[in-house]
Amino acid sequence: HANERESLYLVNEFANTYFQKVLHKTDQGKSIGLSYFKERGFTEDTIKKFDLGYSLDAWQAFTDDALKHGYNIDYLEKTGLTIVKDDKRFDRFKGRVMFPIKSMSGRVLGFGGRILTNDKKAAKYVNSPESEVYHKSNVLYGIFHAKQSIAKEDNCFLVEGYTDVIQFHQTGIKNVVASSGTALTAEQIRLVNRLTKNITVLFDGDAAGMRASIRGIDLILEQGMNVRVCTFPEGDDPDSFARKNTLEELSLYLEENAKDFIQFKASLLVEDSKNDPIKKAETVRDIVNSISKIPDRIKKEIYIQECARIMDISEEVLFSTLAQINKKDV
Ligand code: CTP
Ligand code: MN
Ligand code: MN
Ligand code: MN
Ligand code: MN
Repeated sequence: HANERESLYLVNEFANTYFQKVLHKTDQGKSIGLSYFKERGFTEDTIKKFDLGYSLDAWQAFTDDALKHGYNIDYLEKTGLTIVKDDKRFDRFKGRVMFPIKSMSGRVLGFGGRILTNDKKAAKYVNSPESEVYHKSNVLYGIFHAKQSIAKEDNCFLVEGYTDVIQFHQTGIKNVVASSGTALTAEQIRLVNRLTKNITVLFDGDAAGMRASIRGIDLILEQGMNVRVCTFPEGDDPDSFARKNTLEELSLYLEENAKDFIQFKASLLVEDSKNDPIKKAETVRDIVNSISKIPDRIKKEIYIQECARIMDISEEVLFSTLAQINKKDV
């Protein structure tokens, strides 16, 4: 339905304007939302650039205003901005700072809303549900603001969260997008692949999260892209690290700490399976499995040689493991 989709876009566009108006023009917006962003170190320019907003802490403030402006309740419900239960209507986003999520061409697809407290019982972020215009797995947060820089720099930084993207821009690095905390998908990678063949994945500085993300990186290799990875000091994520550093410091850190993904993974596996022969056998299959995803045969061969060295195992074993994996794939 081209018409229905257009209607959902219009509702989202209205909401985007509404949440910004609430942030900048209402007492609650200014005293709670705007001061939250300022405390996080976001400047006025940054807040405007990313259309950041605020949703009032009220049951149906947004819904009432949208209805008053003539927006259809069906479309409000379909975007997920309004939750309809029996004959009652509730705003999905209440008392949250708002991050609009935009398409490559800048249309508003949905929203992420963050609570302002550190209340561990409430969800830190609430996001728009899937809709005819918002397919979470096809979207990268920040792609609209990043696309030109990605092409120009011929590299894309991939981070986890909204605030990582925003803080990088403010520090001066614009070729950055976020997977928004979910497992990376082939469709998301394709968006980047159109602009550059080079991705640098930046992990939040917690070991568990990094290990969980590593599996998804094989999808990037499969698309023939060059992958580098970079970690941050324990407790930092790209946002907190960028905030503490100048552009020069941040750029230098990224240059010095970004490592080739296959080499990084091989070293990590060696570390993990020290003195454990059974585990080591598993890790050999694991790394060769990643290498098997690389379409280019020359690169494959170079990585086999490199990993043989890093993992202290013969190239022959790695090549025969590769042959086994290839056989299974057919
Ligand atoms: N996320 C989400 N829902 C959650 C937690 C996280 O959708 N309950 C997504 C958000 O897109 C978030 C990203 O995952 O930006 C990364 O999560 P996390 O690192 O926990 O949040 P930060 O982006 O670092 O947010 P903040 O600095 O405000 O805590
Ligand atoms: Mn995280
Ligand atoms: Mn984070
Ligand atoms: Mn953070
Ligand atoms: Mn900074």
